[in-house]
Amino acid sequence: MRFDILTLFPSIIESYINESIIKRAKDKKILEINIINIRDFTLLKNGQVDDTPFGGGSGMVLMCEPVVRAIEKVRDDDALVYLLSPQGQVFNDNLAKKMVNTSKHIILVCGHYEGFDERILNFVDGEISIGDYVLTGGELPALVVLDAISRFIPGVIKEESFLNESFKDNLLDYPVYTKPRDFRGFKVPDILLSGDHAKIAKYREEEKLRVTKEKRPDLLK
Ligand SMILES: C[S@@+](CC[C@H](N)C(=O)[O-])C[C@H]1O[C@@H](n2cnc3c(N)ncnc32)[C@H](O)[C@@H]1O
Repeated sequence: MRFDILTLFPSIIESYINESIIKRAKDKKILEINIINIRDFTLLKNGQVDDTPFGGGSGMVLMCEPVVRAIEKVRDDDALVYLLSPQGQVFNDNLAKKMVNTSKHIILVCGHYEGFDERILNFVDGEISIGDYVLTGGELPALVVLDAISRFIPGVIKEESFLNESFKDNLLDYPVYTKPRDFRGFKVPDILLSGDHAKIAKYREEEKLRVTKEKRPDLLK
């Protein structure tokens, strides 16, 4: 699967994708991640990519030309292009699954400052938000989207981990424990130490339902 991330701050993306699970998936060639600096696509001198808003107001607006030229450089017939924006469709597990099944090439465009010139919307397939709050830039949202989608790509994580994750079948994951068996009087449930795998599996299924009812009853509706 190929991701192209268009940004004004490549080093933010670089630091994340060169660690841990995402790095391993890149090394195994399961993921191809290209970082494109939007500034390389401006036609203006001094690398200018933004300007003041027409009609007045605070902040700087990302200009159409460099953003659209950067998109056109990496876009192909299979690609889906998304702007990261607090005004977009709110990202979740279902959207991540849908995206991974719809295209093998996703282009994520990170905004900054006051956001994008509205006309850029004519050159993309959609807008994605990671939640109802405003961040200073689209880099963290792009990484959230990249990371969540990557987990659905076969080979990125172990299939067993993938099958037992929160939100599968609208349930949260069961609680997990590791050593020591007793931490300051808080004990690991006996059943997990019993060695009875059938009983453990049943207990974990029941725990999924219990924690979902307790923490996220909305998922059960
Ligand atoms: C300061 S924000 C611009 C917000 C814009 N003026 C508004 O109120 O809709 C700058 C950039 O950060 C990114 N961003 C901020 N919050 C986001 C969120 N919740 N989801 C996705 N992207 C976000 C977007 O790329 C956005 O263009």
